Amino acid sequence: MKKIIFLAFLFYASVNAQQNTTTPTGLVTTKAMVVSAREEASKIGGDIMKRGGNAFDAMVGTELALAVAFPFAGNIGGGGFMVYRKANGETGSLDYREKAPLAATKDMFLDKDGNVIKGKSTETALAIGVPGTIAGVFAVHKKYGSMKMEEILKPIIALAERGVIVTKKQEKSLKDYHESIVKINGENSLLSGNFKENDTIKYLSLAKTLKRIQKKGRNEFYKGETAKILVNYLKQKGGIITMEDLAKYEAKWRKPLQFTYKDLKITSMSPPSSGGICLAQILKMLEPYDLAKMGHNSEEAIQLIVEAERRAYADRNYFLGDPDFVKIPLKELLDTNYLRERIASFNPEQASLSSEIKEGKVTYNESTETTHYSIVDQFGNAIAATTTLNDGYGSKYYCDELGFFLNNEMDDFSAKPGSPNMFGLIGNEANSIAPQKRMLSSMTPTIVEKDGKLFMVVGTPGGSTIITSVLQTILNVYEYKLSMQQAVNAPRFHHQWMPDLITFEPNTFETKTINNLKAKKYLINEKTTPIIGKVDAILILPDNKLEGGADFRGDDKAVGF
Ligand code: GLY
Repeated sequence: MKKIIFLAFLFYASVNAQQNTTTPTGLVTTKAMVVSAREEASKIGGDIMKRGGNAFDAMVGTELALAVAFPFAGNIGGGGFMVYRKANGETGSLDYREKAPLAATKDMFLDKDGNVIKGKSTETALAIGVPGTIAGVFAVHKKYGSMKMEEILKPIIALAERGVIVTKKQEKSLKDYHESIVKINGENSLLSGNFKENDTIKYLSLAKTLKRIQKKGRNEFYKGETAKILVNYLKQKGGIITMEDLAKYEAKWRKPLQFTYKDLKITSMSPPSSGGICLAQILKMLEPYDLAKMGHNSEEAIQLIVEAERRAYADRNYFLGDPDFVKIPLKELLDTNYLRERIASFNPEQASLSSEIKEGKVTYNESTETTHYSIVDQFGNAIAATTTLNDGYGSKYYCDELGFFLNNEMDDFSAKPGSPNMFGLIGNEANSIAPQKRMLSSMTPTIVEKDGKLFMVVGTPGGSTIITSVLQTILNVYEYKLSMQQAVNAPRFHHQWMPDLITFEPNTFETKTINNLKAKKYLINEKTTPIIGKVDAILILPDNKLEGGADFRGDDKAVGF
């Protein structure tokens, strides 16, 4: 099936490239759209807009509906980032990323010899950062919402009570994680069951928690009964999050990262996400080249993109961290001359090995956790939001009394400078642990404008591969004239400086291309060939209609009217 989709994709891609015309192949609607990881969530967001709500109301609805329908990554026990562009062109972003607890210490994941203790930052209650999602949605609602929170929450609570049908992909995901969920929570926890496709899971405790939040508001989660239950639960499990940590948590409005690529204006997330800076660096390095002429996923294009990615991720890992704690040389990192010089060192005849800088001896596993949704409303407002528990089902700690998983976002800190985290990302001092600090992220919710008008809303899960998947989706539409859905379907590849490997999605790239790259000394990741990202995006067509790109790699769905 996958192969047929990719063959069909190659055919359409070559026709489009020749004719320079793009026929939409995803869902097309005239007014509004939500694209998310689950139909139930897209529908709740879409219905909110149908009832007259705006994109911000729909953001609250979609985010919380994902917490019910997609417990793999949707959450109220994690955090995320949201980038918006209002119909009047005003842009902004919200950081509702988790924070390190007050009792966190720089060395909390190290042994007495200063070595990283395996699993401590991912599989223990110490891995849990102070959750930001409820603060995030209430901040959005307070600033820009138009519907009553009570009304937005109604269909979400109803969904949790009615239950959500298990899809084939969800059956697999619950099976894959079964052992680790049972290990942490025992056999009797809600998601410890052996679920099959078409089973219905009712999330009754989560419904109760959401009802309390519906009645009492944001502070129910951070200061109320929910907070007390959560802190007691975490204490029993060896966690360190206190009532003070929860009470102190605030989501933060931040200036988004903006830059141009040719005639596009791109708005993406600024630190503590590395997404915007890294995306900007890569695109600025690519800007002088004629990628369209090189051909989509051609050897030449892959090589150039990989070299730009290698250089941008090297900077990411060294310089970036929470801007409330570290000074980031933003102007210098985004300086066009600096970036042009950096890519100029690339030799088209041979790979620039990252090992010449430092050897990376790590591999990373399939990483499609996290989740992204894109929204455009009938008024012209647009939202890109990416939210996460970090790993699939986060730390696996599931508080049955409250009905949700807790994140393991503390692993996104650099536990020890030079040591890789679960994505193989090697951090530095800038991303070291400190109380109240936010861990560096790769989440890249992004909005693209062309000729001063909204052009695309895009983002994806995928850990360290998020940035490169967003990059390729933008290039697929802009340089290679693919439709939104084709751009999302297109095979993806990834390089992140260290480990010094190109990862290709399985069975998607020509053997000849891969062999030629090998001949130029590129190291190919042949051990793990995961799917890369699950992009959910919306393109504004020339006639102002909307085309959705919902990733077939997941259960993702575009819904609109
Ligand atoms: N936890 C993945 C990220 O924030 O990049």
